[in-house]
Amino acid sequence: MAEAAYQICVNAECKATYDVGEVLFACRKCGSLLDVAYDFSRVRLPRRLSDFELRWSKRKDPLNLSGVWRFRELIPFAKKRDIVTIGEGQTLLIEARESLAKYVGLEPGRFFLQYEGLNPSGSFKDNGMTGALTHARMVGAKSAICASTGNTASSLALFAAASGALRAIVFIGKGKIAHGKLAQILDHGAKTLQIEGDFDDAMQKVQEVATDPRYYLVNSLNPFRLEGQKAIMFRILESLGWRIPRWIVLPGGNLGNTSAFGKAFQELYELGLIRRKPHLAAINSTGANTFYQIAEKKGIKWNKGKVDEVAIKRYYQHMDERGIRAKTIASAIEINRPVNLIKALRSLEWTRGLVRQVPDEEIFDAKAQVGKGGLGCEPASAAAVAGVRRLRREGIIGEKDLTVALITGHLLKDLDATVGYHTTPKSELPEVFAGFKVKRARFQNRPIPVANDLEAILRALKK
Ligand code: F0G
Repeated sequence: MAEAAYQICVNAECKATYDVGEVLFACRKCGSLLDVAYDFSRVRLPRRLSDFELRWSKRKDPLNLSGVWRFRELIPFAKKRDIVTIGEGQTLLIEARESLAKYVGLEPGRFFLQYEGLNPSGSFKDNGMTGALTHARMVGAKSAICASTGNTASSLALFAAASGALRAIVFIGKGKIAHGKLAQILDHGAKTLQIEGDFDDAMQKVQEVATDPRYYLVNSLNPFRLEGQKAIMFRILESLGWRIPRWIVLPGGNLGNTSAFGKAFQELYELGLIRRKPHLAAINSTGANTFYQIAEKKGIKWNKGKVDEVAIKRYYQHMDERGIRAKTIASAIEINRPVNLIKALRSLEWTRGLVRQVPDEEIFDAKAQVGKGGLGCEPASAAAVAGVRRLRREGIIGEKDLTVALITGHLLKDLDATVGYHTTPKSELPEVFAGFKVKRARFQNRPIPVANDLEAILRALKK
């Protein structure tokens, strides 16, 4: 299987290729991003997508148990013996409760949530980590390293602890990470460097450190990580009985998912396994909206692999000159310069997709609605649901359009944000979120203070 795979530069004017055994996170010739590509004629693909489902009955094999490697012929870069799996990707596509469908403006039965909070580390990242660490094993790496807003780091820390395959090292921005994630990283024993700065500073530094081949980089610059993340889309289709949704809406941070999902659908389409592609809608927080600015406001396009990189650099310069820095309560997506920007533009072109931004208030309200609807998520995930609501209001998503929102991370990842939202007296709201202008909290569920006295308790129950 592994012989079918190679790495290729995404820049249409370069297209340099490399062996899968090489450890590179940028093209050696032009510095652009790399893809993992396949000669699928050398892979024994199932005849129909539905053949993958048969593996459900053979779950004693860890590769069938994995919600990623169950689809191994669509991710064929590794020999079976190199695969590092801890049972990731056993996640569910759940029909949204009627209240939530109504909240976003979709007809009941037309709105689904892909709940990636069910992964071992509580976020979608585990889908990618199994891919990256499998490649790390292929090349004999001993230490893996990442910069993170929290979830990539939790995933790496957990995988390293569970598999014993290598040592985990993580860089985090000081004060920029939700406590649930920090707790995971520390408890799983990752070496943790808390850098004076934000995610972008940590990302920059980790790339410099990873020029030393002893540190294997697992950020989404790593194309093998994105191969694993494609499986999220395979599972959505599988859960829908291989129907293709019209819209897939997801939060946009470093844009790894946006990149991976477009590639997944493009490959299925080119293999003739699907006849239509869904539209991808990436949702930024208004406080961290680089992708929105570049794709929607500046109109920068993939342009068949000839992206106007000068215009992107100009925008980054403008951000620096004006002191524009990402600031949002959705800390997972508080990112200034998404490393996968170019691949994400490609995904928009391939899927005729778009980008929107949503303010923190809407993210919070959507989060409370997801919680009330029975699932629960962290703020970044709720951006996707708030995005669906916006796109319904704009009339871009129709009320009958089959729509899936990606719930990227578990509710328990960020308790401070959730408890803050529900318990803060309305009069204090803007202060509590330390500068995040959350002026209102429509769906607060405040605890009722009551004396330790039966009469008082019964009175409170009647209210
Ligand atoms: N949702 C959650 C919960 C995340 O943790 C992230 C990214 C995203 C969405 C955005 O996904 O980067 O593929 O666009 N978190 C990264 C981290 C950056 O370090 O954990 P993306």
